Amino acid sequence: MWRFLMVLTLLAAPAQAATPEQLYQQHCLTCHGSGRMGAMAPALLPQSLDRLRPQQIEQLIRSGRTATQMAGFADRLNEDEIRALTQWLLQPPAQAPKWDAADITASHVIHHQPDPQARLPASIDPLNLFVVVEAGDHHLSVVDGDRFRVLARVPTRYALHGGPKFSPDGRFVYLASRDGWVSQFDLYTQQMVAEVRVALNTRNVAVSSDGRWVLAGNTLPETLVLLDANGLRPVRTLPVCDARGNTSRVSAVYDAAPRNSFVVALKDVPELWEISYDPKAGKIYPAFVHDYKMGEGFALDGYLNPRVTALDGVLDDFFFDPSYRYVFGASRDGRAQVINLDIRRKLVDLPLVGMPHLGSGITFERSGRTLMASPDLKGGQIDVVDLASWQAVAQIKTPGPGFFLRSHERTPYAWTDSMMSKDARDTITLIDKRTLAVVKTLRPRPGRTTAHVEFTRDGRYVLLSVMETPGELLVLDADSGREVASLPMMKPIGKYNVYNKINRSEGTSH
Ligand code: HEC
Repeated sequence: MWRFLMVLTLLAAPAQAATPEQLYQQHCLTCHGSGRMGAMAPALLPQSLDRLRPQQIEQLIRSGRTATQMAGFADRLNEDEIRALTQWLLQPPAQAPKWDAADITASHVIHHQPDPQARLPASIDPLNLFVVVEAGDHHLSVVDGDRFRVLARVPTRYALHGGPKFSPDGRFVYLASRDGWVSQFDLYTQQMVAEVRVALNTRNVAVSSDGRWVLAGNTLPETLVLLDANGLRPVRTLPVCDARGNTSRVSAVYDAAPRNSFVVALKDVPELWEISYDPKAGKIYPAFVHDYKMGEGFALDGYLNPRVTALDGVLDDFFFDPSYRYVFGASRDGRAQVINLDIRRKLVDLPLVGMPHLGSGITFERSGRTLMASPDLKGGQIDVVDLASWQAVAQIKTPGPGFFLRSHERTPYAWTDSMMSKDARDTITLIDKRTLAVVKTLRPRPGRTTAHVEFTRDGRYVLLSVMETPGELLVLDADSGREVASLPMMKPIGKYNVYNKINRSEGTSH
């Protein structure tokens, strides 16, 4: 009898153990939100966690993250529960999370109406400001590019993407967070203007060159969301799918200023989309600008009318040539190709090996030819291609695989990093654009990951990130590499000079 009871208890025990879902409800929901969609804490969906390894997630649940509200649960959850919870978080929710037009509209907040008369003090050059994205503790810093002083430091949404976008006059910054929040920030008053959550997982945003529109490209749900750039009022949602209804995540969306259009790369469908915002182009390919009844909200009617270029593979990222007629696209398997946006066709495969990071490509002139250079995420080299012949011109060896490449019209040097390598993540390499040779390797903070250069407006100084928590923003003389200043920062993953961005300096990527 006694034995029988024990067997019964053993059999019953698993049924009594809490399921991962129950553990979530009990311990996590208050902060991470219902449906794991995020609340005061970030979303916990497979799409949001793909940068963490399962062991890292388990460790996070066990011990928490220092200096944040994420406390450890080792005292409340045992190892089996932590493992089960982690596996459960890496699976899509049983019920697909919903984020539709009503959710977008309900999330929209206006924090401050921008005062048209507002100005920065006369001593500050508004076009030589830098916006620094600090991923360590989710802040944005505004740095005066003449005096190298922090003018303001404000909290942002969780996990901003690098690459904020600017209004054409350089006054407003548009930020996109991993969890789908788009924020409009006023550099003149250093206040958030408005925010809206366009999706549960977002790739990036682009701002139209006329300053009227912001287009957000999303991965969950698979949509493009158009916003009014002045206050981020949602205007329209476009589901992303091909003619047969196969849906796709968005890889990237960029503004093609001379074409008055947005160009969108898709991650799951081999198509490149171009969406015009040119009021005059409406007859050629019906643009969405004509039919708004402003103030009426928006509907899921698919009215945005993309011009589709069919491709033989999906694109992960892309880069425009200076004429904006051609797109250089790269796919995850490392193939690169040239696409003509006017005739809507792929022209050639680009002779690049490895995995080009076209999102950080730059162009420059050399002996009367226009060259494009981009880092290689795998190979420890910079690939240089002639834009007239589409031929490879050089492969410049660096100490290890890097992520960013930057230059400026004023300087003969292009600066790159080796942050993806094991033993050279602390090096910065200067390449002479005239000889295509490495001229200098800097190691300003030995042992610390150092990357992402941006030039001052005049090109005389570079700002460089020591991407650690805590890290630094270093200011170096652009000619000698000598250190001029250092500002403490929390993992500054990117910095952007207003002037270089709004003038599409040839030394910066979009
Ligand atoms: C008191 C609020 C709170 C509770 C309760 C909480 N978290 Fe968190 N969690 C946070 C915050 C805030 C962050 C972001 C930390 C940061 O800034 O890096 C976070 C981050 C995380 C992350 C990392 C997400 C990422 O993308 O980097 C995971 C995973 C996570 N939490 C899991 C859990 C789990 C599982 C539970 C329940 C067992 C839980 N959290 C309970 C507040 C909370």
